Amino acid sequence: MPSESATGAELAAAVKSHNFFSWSAQDAVNPIPVVRAEGVYFWDADGKRYFDLNSQSMCVNIGHGDPRVVAAIKAQADELIYAGPGMATRVRAELGEALAQVTPSGLDKFFWTLGGSDANENAVKLARAVTGRQKILTRYLSYHGATYGAVSLTGDHRRWANEPGIPGVVRIADPTSTAACSSGMATVTPISHSVCWQK
Ligand SMILES: Cc1ncc(COP(=O)(O)O)c(C=O)c1O
Repeated sequence: MPSESATGAELAAAVKSHNFFSWSAQDAVNPIPVVRAEGVYFWDADGKRYFDLNSQSMCVNIGHGDPRVVAAIKAQADELIYAGPGMATRVRAELGEALAQVTPSGLDKFFWTLGGSDANENAVKLARAVTGRQKILTRYLSYHGATYGAVSLTGDHRRWANEPGIPGVVRIADPTSTAACSSGMATVTPISHSVCWQK
């Protein structure tokens, strides 16, 4: 276990020992040993500051460590840290009401999931159940998640190792061409158009 004063290299090595990293050649992974974050910045264990234009995985969009979010997490942990999906809770009612106020009229019932892959797979299940149809249209230049159904929907190369995937997925071309690929990117032409990705 790395100490609290571990260097960035020590922390990264300790994490690499017992953790897989997604979408990566495991030996080549070089994780940033992040130790704290505030606003638009995060810092690594060696004190280097990073400007976080991606909000990590697009998950802290109002900034790192916003005191309102921290206080709400703490208060909820004190009040009720977990409730199963069959329970009715005050926050569940509040969140549904708040979301219904900003969604288009008629779109006012929600199914909460734990992430993007989960959301996409449930959307497929709901659409199939409601329409009775099976086909799902998806773009070649797309990423829909890492779980089995979501990666089947994914258009890019991350799907390939997981084929054949779920049935009923129909891929459509994007409004792009090889001309849109930056130099140094690889291209492939699966049907009638090209997909580019970082070599
Ligand atoms: C467009 C898009 N869809 C789906 C996902 C999958 O989300 P998750 O990693 O939460 O399963 C991502 C994740 O980066 C995404 O960017």
